[in-house]
Amino acid sequence: MTSGPTDGPAANGPATTEPAGGQLWAGRFSAPPAPEAHALGRSLRFDVRLAPYDVRASVAHVGALEDAGLLEPDDATRLRATLAEVGDEIAAGTFVFDDRDEDVHLAIERAVTHRLGDLGARLHAGRSRNDLVVTDLRLWLLDVGDRIHEATSALIRTLVARAREHADTVMPGTTHARPAQPVSLGHHLLAHGWALTRDLERVAQWGVRTSVSPLGAGALGTSTLGLDPARTADALGFRGSFRNSLDAVSDRDAVQEFLAVASIEATHLSRLAADVARWSDPTLGWAELDEAYATGSSMMPQKRNPDTAELARGKAARIAGDFVALTALLQGLPLGYHRDLQEDKEPAFDAADTLLLVLPALDGCVATLRFDVDVMRAACEDEGLYATDLAEALVRRGVPFREAHRRTGELLKRVADEGGSLRDLSGEAWETFGLRDGATLLDPGVAIGARSGPGGPSPDSVRSQADALERFIAG
Ligand code: ARG
Repeated sequence: MTSGPTDGPAANGPATTEPAGGQLWAGRFSAPPAPEAHALGRSLRFDVRLAPYDVRASVAHVGALEDAGLLEPDDATRLRATLAEVGDEIAAGTFVFDDRDEDVHLAIERAVTHRLGDLGARLHAGRSRNDLVVTDLRLWLLDVGDRIHEATSALIRTLVARAREHADTVMPGTTHARPAQPVSLGHHLLAHGWALTRDLERVAQWGVRTSVSPLGAGALGTSTLGLDPARTADALGFRGSFRNSLDAVSDRDAVQEFLAVASIEATHLSRLAADVARWSDPTLGWAELDEAYATGSSMMPQKRNPDTAELARGKAARIAGDFVALTALLQGLPLGYHRDLQEDKEPAFDAADTLLLVLPALDGCVATLRFDVDVMRAACEDEGLYATDLAEALVRRGVPFREAHRRTGELLKRVADEGGSLRDLSGEAWETFGLRDGATLLDPGVAIGARSGPGGPSPDSVRSQADALERFIAG
């Protein structure tokens, strides 16, 4: 029997206490699983990444057995040392896996039992892989949550820095992807920043709910051994332990919520990526991608394609798929552990890996984007961008908004019909319209400066938003 998580030479079995057939659970069995059944059931290929968490959880469990008087202190010390040794070997890649092991939990237990004999065989008292696997998974998820928090904060810091640079840079803001009103580029960038702060909040709030230890729940109904789940939870750094053992082993809402949170954040990233791709479209010319975040074409020499942004956009679909896969898995599943639940891990791993791949790439892409402020300003020549400001100027002079809207629309139509421009309108024509200073409003700097209220696109607002975001990140 030889293998790594996928293949390799054997060295951790058989232990003295092993049943015939080699499966650690095979006492009641007289034959090993069919090879194809074993192949279907084997999760070691992907759950091996839980090894460090399995070792931590097992060390905490040794403490619980010791506290309950089921292990002598010396034996507990030896078990902890061997668990650490096995963990180190797995981390170093020197551990030799056994083909018979279905998963990382059995691989570690087998190795400990092989090395310590009967003492190793005491480890699994009062626990089940059912409580162990969710304990490992929650510990892993909480670490991933920290990494997502860091990478997201870094991206927000980049957006803030770019927004400060461009607090005064004007650009046509759009609705329906058509020119609407001038905004500052800083305001647009910070819109993405604020969306990401809600992702940080979601990660933090999800983290509180996830920081609950299932260890001690056993297979479904705790054990008769007098273990103290609260102390185990404490030793593992969880905020608390389970309140219902059946809930602890059955539910995967912590994973499902992680995928929901990850999917929402990925959606935000996809929209930032879509803006980057659009802005750097040469037919628009508002920004140029740094070569480090662009790709050439194998056929068309002139191309600088926004692959990083496009992949950041596309990966959101995949993470949403991970959420849907787990939701479909869980819905309708009666309480209690079912092997179906083994399918919770790959979507979780995939979503985490994908998000942690996208975040730094998009961060670098945004950090190095070169904005063409002149082209953006030139795009603000479009006089339609100021129509709302003209109508609002009439409102400030007492005209009801609907009438102001109609009057402005009619003015735009007349000018367009005559093939002219608002900029060529005579003082007299402005007077007739009802705004002596109408021409001064046709300026993007004036337009954004006048939107100085809270949350608006004015340069001052952008700077105070940037300050607020920095305070948010600092906690
Ligand atoms: N590899 C399993 C999983 O990921 C561990 C739990 C196995 N429990 C069981 N009763 N077969 O879910």
